[in-house]
Amino acid sequence: MPRPVRRLLACVISGALWAGALGAATVTTQVATTATPAAAAENGLARTPPMGFNDWNAFGCNVSEQLIKETADIFVTSGLKDAGYTYVNIDDCWMTHQRDAQGRLVPDPVKFPDGIQGTADYVHSKGLKLGIYEDAGTATCAGYPGSLGHETTDAQTFADWGVDYLKYDNCNNQSDGSRADYVRRYTTMGDALRATGHPIVYSVCEWGTSQPWEWAGDVGNLWRTTGDISDNWNSMLTIARTNMPLAPFAHPGAWNDPDMLEIGNGGMTDTEYRSHFSLWAAMNAPLLIGTDLRKASPATMDILRNREIIALNQDPLGKQATVLSAANDRYVLTKELAGGERAVVLFNAGDQAQRIATTATAAGLPARGGYAVRDLWRHTGYQSAGALAATVPAHGSVVLRVSADARKAAAALASSPPLLDSGVTAPDHIEPGQTADVTTYATDLGTLPAADVSVKLTAPQGWTVRATGATTRKVLPTGDTASVPWEVTVPEGTGSGNYPLAGTATYRSSAGDRRVTVPLTGTITVVSPPPSGTSFLSDLDWLSATNGWGPVERDRSNGESGPGDGNPITLGGTVYAKGLGVHAPGTVTYYLGGGCSSLDTEVGVDDEKNGKGSVQFRIVADGTQVADSGVLRNADGAKALHADVTGRQFVQLAVSDGGDGTDSDHADWADAQISCS
Ligand code: GLA
Repeated sequence: MPRPVRRLLACVISGALWAGALGAATVTTQVATTATPAAAAENGLARTPPMGFNDWNAFGCNVSEQLIKETADIFVTSGLKDAGYTYVNIDDCWMTHQRDAQGRLVPDPVKFPDGIQGTADYVHSKGLKLGIYEDAGTATCAGYPGSLGHETTDAQTFADWGVDYLKYDNCNNQSDGSRADYVRRYTTMGDALRATGHPIVYSVCEWGTSQPWEWAGDVGNLWRTTGDISDNWNSMLTIARTNMPLAPFAHPGAWNDPDMLEIGNGGMTDTEYRSHFSLWAAMNAPLLIGTDLRKASPATMDILRNREIIALNQDPLGKQATVLSAANDRYVLTKELAGGERAVVLFNAGDQAQRIATTATAAGLPARGGYAVRDLWRHTGYQSAGALAATVPAHGSVVLRVSADARKAAAALASSPPLLDSGVTAPDHIEPGQTADVTTYATDLGTLPAADVSVKLTAPQGWTVRATGATTRKVLPTGDTASVPWEVTVPEGTGSGNYPLAGTATYRSSAGDRRVTVPLTGTITVVSPPPSGTSFLSDLDWLSATNGWGPVERDRSNGESGPGDGNPITLGGTVYAKGLGVHAPGTVTYYLGGGCSSLDTEVGVDDEKNGKGSVQFRIVADGTQVADSGVLRNADGAKALHADVTGRQFVQLAVSDGGDGTDSDHADWADAQISCS
């Protein structure tokens, strides 16, 4: 149905999208920030984002009836079903390579001895629903028969089997790339599903290629906005950033889909997985568990079963969180909830703990004398005069649910402690053997004083921590800050990197007796300058590193997954014993401490990519570019790069894609050396 087009305010988002089996690609997308959302698919389904499981992230092609049934069992026994998880979804590789004599798809009889129908019956007997996977092309991504040209037959087959959900992929699509073709291919299947009369949630999976947020709301219930997620921080963050500005397009029955969850798969810390879950919940993403639930740890289950976070995702108003501010990796997202409350996500995308602050009115609530605040990861209630702030650990999130309701605010005032904004500030960096002056702070954000405030600080094992001022305060008035000075000594021999400082503030509300303890968090960055003389960078500790795929490698090329999985560094037929193997986009940062003079290296795309890949190498010292290779292709071999770093404190080796996406961008800093006095 054509709709009036309002004037669109365009903004540009760009980011590397991880395209998994298809290789990574960098895309630049025009995103309208104000738009009339498309009508929902009008099948009455997915009024809140779908919740469930999909096997792909943890199992790839190894799907089976047994796995699906066991997962359904665990949904029931572990409380996941009670928490709202409903769909148990089969991804690619469930069928045989040939259609039957009637042209119907055939489930692999070894993987699915009872067929999809038998599997669906079992899942339904548990009060759950079954999802399946097909592809709007001639073959699925793993090479099984695709649905293009078979939409009516396949939709009817799924309906006959009792399938409740279809993820419809985009490989081997024979497309001319036009939006009209995308709309046509995905609409054909949507119409075929609707014609069966069987309720089937329709998941459009074209990876954000043709701005599906602008049209797929008329066609399906959700649409992928990016390429495939992988189980690492960079991938999750890049996808989250791409999906955030698409909030105006989501509404009940029609959701942005930033891909399935990686929680529990081991490539991120639990802090990072809590951020992953917080962001996906706030962005009204489908919550599709992507881990082996038979082996999930208690920490993984605690994240997935956090009902207070899930409630944000399943809120009946169906409004995706919007970004209120995003400076210096400090994100504030707010989500309007049914009944007038607001969720506030304080998300720290940076590598060091940071203070992130906003207010109840900035989050969209009316001005009031006080607010009830609930911390959805700590599961505790607080009271605030209006300020909302926390020092959030690196890659962490604090999620608050804030109410301006007079009754709730009065109850919070009577029974909950004031919200405390507490954290640790430390100098920018410190060398091993030195003592840092560190300060802990705790500010009362409530409308009543905090009483009997007592602060503790701990540092990594082997470090010494000494308070040089009083650590207790009888009364902390509203708006006041209790600061405590500390001396923290870093032992000799400590490696470079970011180290957490952790502590607690214990206090009670002046209105009540209940004592509460809240964590204090901060980061101290330990740096060691390179020794005098010439050193290979691969023999030194770096301060921080980010990498497109897998870790940065020392004296190896990048193998895309685990440490040490690359090959000997090879450029233009020459093998180098020393160097760093990275994958665009990547940065490696070293502390120089002002005593170095030059950095020399040979750079290029590793021969192992057989002619593919193009990248650009840049050296940046204290924020100033000091060398630039220009775009280098695989065939260019090695290029020498020299940088003057005299007197500089920090140097960053940065690799970006050569303007054509990050596919095959295996970038080597061969023989990289630094000369220092
Ligand atoms: C594509 C999809 C993935 C997964 C695989 C299966 O890459 O984006 O989510 O379904 O195909 O082959």
